[in-house]
Amino acid sequence: DLRPIPSPRGIPLLGHTTQVPGTNPFAYFAELSKQFPEGIFSLNIAGIEQVFVTDPDLVAEVCDETRFFKQIEKTPLNHVRDFTGAGLFTAHQHEEEWGMAHRILLPAFSQRAMKAYYGQMLEIAQNLAGKWEGREGQPVNITDDYTRLTLDTIALTGFGYRFDSFDKEELHPFLNALLGALVESLRRSQELPVMTKMRKADAKKYGENIQLMRDLVDSVIKERRQGKGSGEEDLLGLMLEATDPETGKQLTDDNVRDQVVTFLIAGHETTSGLLSFATYSLMRNPHVLAQAYAEVDRLLPGDTVPDYDTIMQLDVIPRILEETLRLWAPIPLFGKTAREDTVIGGRYELKKGTKVLILEGPLHTHPKAWERPEEFDIDRWLPENRVQQHPHAYKPFGNGVRACIGRQFALTEARLALALVLQKFKFADPNDYKMDVREALTRKPGDFELVIRTRQDQE
Ligand code: HEM
Repeated sequence: DLRPIPSPRGIPLLGHTTQVPGTNPFAYFAELSKQFPEGIFSLNIAGIEQVFVTDPDLVAEVCDETRFFKQIEKTPLNHVRDFTGAGLFTAHQHEEEWGMAHRILLPAFSQRAMKAYYGQMLEIAQNLAGKWEGREGQPVNITDDYTRLTLDTIALTGFGYRFDSFDKEELHPFLNALLGALVESLRRSQELPVMTKMRKADAKKYGENIQLMRDLVDSVIKERRQGKGSGEEDLLGLMLEATDPETGKQLTDDNVRDQVVTFLIAGHETTSGLLSFATYSLMRNPHVLAQAYAEVDRLLPGDTVPDYDTIMQLDVIPRILEETLRLWAPIPLFGKTAREDTVIGGRYELKKGTKVLILEGPLHTHPKAWERPEEFDIDRWLPENRVQQHPHAYKPFGNGVRACIGRQFALTEARLALALVLQKFKFADPNDYKMDVREALTRKPGDFELVIRTRQDQE
């Protein structure tokens, strides 16, 4: 009983290419999905057929790694490879570099390893708090400061490199270069190659942005090689020294560079989005904010400096983070490709090589899996409620072997940052901020400003 995959009307040759907006395409896909209650639809974008799935039972099938895998070719990530090469995020599954780096780095991302990074994570979080203490009563761009926090944290813990972002009014040039490169790579993936070729000035800028990122990373590696920088136990130390147990080989210099660029990007964009959306959600849900304040006041009274064990005892804050990732997944979609001809849902035929995109927003709010899906309800994440959850309705960190390696890192860093921020500050929103999502490869709130006050002054 096979059925065609539903699809909106397209136009000859171009398919749906011209319908996909250049800005915020992910929001467009999520909106479009509402027209397809079957939980599946397809679009032809720049000559490639893409199947979008939002139903948790269909997602369950697509997350079966014996039938689907992460393919880079013919996806936006193939353009991101222009600057991240065979780094973990954009490596082809069949490339030797993926397995080598995965095996070498996995131990560095265990929960145990987080304890080793904790001191440096705390130092950067205290830099954030220090900056905000000096901004009493003033509006602060929340997302920009969380971006400073996450960028400085991954650079220091991973590579012993200090961006010192809190000392500067402007965001680091690395971030502008990254944003420019991300936007350009995404744009390239949505247009026909002849269009890209015509945009000569953009190509030049793209090259310059990539060079700026590589130059910075090359200088980080050079410093390390010359014996400067922190201990050899961090990510960079591992990558330069460790031998892969399976192949007996070491990572090449080019690959180490690509990995460092990858980690600087993957290690900060998403976590700063998470913290921003979490703060936004707390402002919209005062009863949850009150629970969070009660928790930090109990575990971190006064000016208690949070230590690792206390951060691990938090319960409300981690549930706030889980619920934020449900409603505001910073990476709103990820792709899988059919290994062979197959059928999903018992009725939709997918040919070998078909690209399937899992849309997290609609999945994370699918009525089959979630009650009152739009409500920010942290009690969903209480252990007794968690066990009843659909096993494939929540994928903020992707799936399978290509799922996020930095999950513990992100959650440890975000717990600490949120705990410290709530211990010390209150926010006011005099301009009544309206969510204005900005998409690059990830999404974040744009122009999100709140007024900061220290809590002691008010109480
Ligand atoms: C992969 C989400 C934080 C490093 C992924 C993927 C997702 C994701 C969805 C899979 C992408 C795909 O299938 O194409 C997130 C979210 C984060 C976060 C929501 C924060 C809240 C981090 C951090 C790091 C990191 C802090 C590093 C310190 C990576 C890497 C990969 C990855 C290297 C590629 C793994 C591989 O393919 O082997 N992440 N991430 N991420 N993430 Fe994260």
